[in-house]
Amino acid sequence: MKSRLLSQAVLNFTLRPQVDRAEIPLHGVILLVGSPGTGKTSLARGLATRASDVLKGLGNFLYLEVEPHTLTSAALGKSQKAISELLGNTISEFASTRPVVVLLDEVETLASDRSKMSLEANPIDVHRATDAVLAQLDQLAIKHTNLLFIATSNFPEAIDSAFLSRADLIMTIELPGPEACRKILISSLEALGRSFPAVKQVSSDPIFEEAARLCRGLDGRRIRKIIPTACTFSKQTALDPNRLTAKDILLAVQHVQEEMTARGKKK
Ligand SMILES: Nc1ncnc2c1ncn2[C@@H]1O[C@H](COP(=O)(O)OP(=O)(O)O)[C@@H](O)[C@H]1O
Ligand SMILES: [Mg+2]
Repeated sequence: MKSRLLSQAVLNFTLRPQVDRAEIPLHGVILLVGSPGTGKTSLARGLATRASDVLKGLGNFLYLEVEPHTLTSAALGKSQKAISELLGNTISEFASTRPVVVLLDEVETLASDRSKMSLEANPIDVHRATDAVLAQLDQLAIKHTNLLFIATSNFPEAIDSAFLSRADLIMTIELPGPEACRKILISSLEALGRSFPAVKQVSSDPIFEEAARLCRGLDGRRIRKIIPTACTFSKQTALDPNRLTAKDILLAVQHVQEEMTARGKKK
């Protein structure tokens, strides 16, 4: 998956300057969708770094992050202006001088699905903001072939279909599989072990493996919280995390899973 993403990012810079847009319409947009905590933002950041490493020959890449909600929370009537200003002026100026990768995190706030909004319930400003984004993306795609947007979304169903159709690649990021769950736990343990060395032994306990298996169905962010949670079952361990045991970790996973089940039932 990572290699496919990287290839798409690289292709953006090798292909777009060379081919006719009318025949091969690439917009320079990659969209990562998936549940919260599945690693989309981290992946997008990593992708920007890896792509600029692979494409060193193109010169120094500029990496920008846009938090769309800071634009759309602007006072009524201002969103459209803020977006036009950012995409049409700021980003366009940067992209005239060097290759640029822009992260549009949680893009659903910026390119909201107009078909799902009623004009009464949603300020017309949001409609205009979405229109402005689409128009600017088209302009940027024509003007700058050395520009790549990596967009992420927790709610792809809330994104306007016209934005979706502009994405050159839409990739769904799934919950971590069994091996990934284990790796995330190990990586958190290692991080704790750098300050509390006794913790490192915990991963060789068979109970640790049981805990890792039980992480199934949890997202990466939840799993990263397991180890700190496991340190809270006794005051002594909270005072000295060197005391952490595999059993504490198992208990922490069980608690999280139980809580998830209880919440699922409530729904
Ligand atoms: N598959 C994964 N492998 C390793 N870490 C992950 C994974 N998924 C999520 N994480 C971790 O969870 C945290 C939240 O990830 P983030 O990229 O913010 O998720 P998202 O943007 O999808 O909500 C980060 O600390 C990230 O390292
Ligand atoms: Mg995110």
